[in-house]
Amino acid sequence: MKENSSTETATPTSAPTRRRFLNWAWAFFGLAAVTELGWLGVSFLNFRKDRSTPARAKSIITAGPVDMFEPATVTAIPQGQLYLARLEDGGFLALSRTCTHLGCSLRWDEEQGKFICPCHGSSYNAAGEVLTAPAPRPLDCYPVRIENGIVKVDIAAPQKRQCFEPGQVTRV
Ligand code: FES
Repeated sequence: MKENSSTETATPTSAPTRRRFLNWAWAFFGLAAVTELGWLGVSFLNFRKDRSTPARAKSIITAGPVDMFEPATVTAIPQGQLYLARLEDGGFLALSRTCTHLGCSLRWDEEQGKFICPCHGSSYNAAGEVLTAPAPRPLDCYPVRIENGIVKVDIAAPQKRQCFEPGQVTRV
């Protein structure tokens, strides 16, 4: 009789204990999952922040001293994948080397005094204006600034143009 009574009393107490354990386990793993998701979110935001800050700093290309570029010349700036044109009046224009037709890389032909696209024959003058189609618009340009006699180009945001305007040129 005593054994029966102990068995009867053991069954009701074990069920709540197991249920309580499972509830705690669910709560624990749920909390762990929420913590993990939060940590992933914070890591993602930090990753984006870390990437954007150096990228902005890296977007400034130092082309060189002003005197290094003669008027009426075009110089390839390899680190920025661009051309720096110094126009006849001494103003600077930084031009993308990407053709506005389908994106081929342009070369500057010194003898002909123009950019020529090897893909479909478009050509552009030193200011990036279209001389020969099928290019639909002038070459993109980048902001140029001159600091202490040094020419710098910001390649972060190429500017699309529909035409050449004198305001796009940076004067010394
Ligand atoms: S990609 Fe330059 S002309 Fe077509």
